[in-house]
Amino acid sequence: MATLTGIKDYQYGLEKIFPEADDFLPLLGTDYVELYVGNAKQAAHFYKTAFGFQSLAYAGLETGVRDRVSYVLQQGKIKLVLTTPLQSDTLISDHIKKHGDGVKVIALWVDDARAAFEETTSRGASPYLEPIVEKDHDGEVVKSGIHTYGDTVHMFVERKNYSGVFLPGFEAWKSEYNPSSVGLEYIDHMVGNVDWNQMNVWAKFYNEVMGFANLISFDDKDISTEYSALMSKVMTNGNGRIKFPINEPAKGKMKSQIEEYIDFYEGAGCQHIAVATKNILHTVGEMRKRGVEFLHVPGSYYDTVMDRVGQIDEDVKALKELGIMVDRDDEGYLLQIFTRPVEDRPTMFFEIIQRKGAMSFGKGNFKALFESIEDEQRRRGTL
Ligand code: FE2
Repeated sequence: MATLTGIKDYQYGLEKIFPEADDFLPLLGTDYVELYVGNAKQAAHFYKTAFGFQSLAYAGLETGVRDRVSYVLQQGKIKLVLTTPLQSDTLISDHIKKHGDGVKVIALWVDDARAAFEETTSRGASPYLEPIVEKDHDGEVVKSGIHTYGDTVHMFVERKNYSGVFLPGFEAWKSEYNPSSVGLEYIDHMVGNVDWNQMNVWAKFYNEVMGFANLISFDDKDISTEYSALMSKVMTNGNGRIKFPINEPAKGKMKSQIEEYIDFYEGAGCQHIAVATKNILHTVGEMRKRGVEFLHVPGSYYDTVMDRVGQIDEDVKALKELGIMVDRDDEGYLLQIFTRPVEDRPTMFFEIIQRKGAMSFGKGNFKALFESIEDEQRRRGTL
């Protein structure tokens, strides 16, 4: 396990902080996340209104694209692309039919998309997109892509010779409806759910094919309640900007939440996107006002939380009102909260996280969190 010491400023520097990670795939950060959805126009409205995303770019019939529409939204450094097909006989339609709304592309920002493709495919990655150059009057972008778990893919995006609003083929999206930001800043981590006995397979993939190190592991004793369990390995790239925890179900008395996800997503896929804020009280207060549904944290959680985490800057009453959880590690503490699934299938959800030194993932909250998820599973008849 990698040490967590001395990496507090990880998101601001490019220096290598995980010596176990290899250098053959330098990643500058997350470029964008693309969801395939049933109705991108309505999803875009939801992410603007409820999550405070801003209109950034658009591609569709009006811009010369015939088979799909894509709305690009931005908040802080986070770019979300929402894509809906315009015909039934397309790969995008197949994806939505099988999985419902979900993450298709986790795009990674690189300096050299050709090298990224070469380095990963030569180590065993299955190619999704051979390197291509896309151009418009704002310059050119080189893209390539590889497959990861399930039907999810990683695109490598090289944009150093591009000055346009998003990617070639997209136009700036000017809207008269611009709800304010809620203060989301960057993607902290994105979690993949994989099937039974597949966690080590995919941890090995991120290690061998992408050069990632194993930051931390959780076994079924760390993540279990009376009824259900899961296991998780957190993989990180060398500069710590990209962190991918990989979960698999573990045996319990009842059905693991990971199994529920796999059943309803019909395969492996992205379980949650954790987005960081500098002021979680403001962010979550706004999101609640705007109709975002969060997991319920039992009131009794707050009776003992201060004994566990010690002194914090926030008023525990305010945290309790909003249902925000706290955890502490050797480096500091973190505040976090989880939304309910954001689509009808009980699949993908968001985490809102504020790090105050802590570099971990809220292990002290796992039990309360999973009991809360079990309550929801019980109501859905999927426990
Ligand atoms: Fe998370």
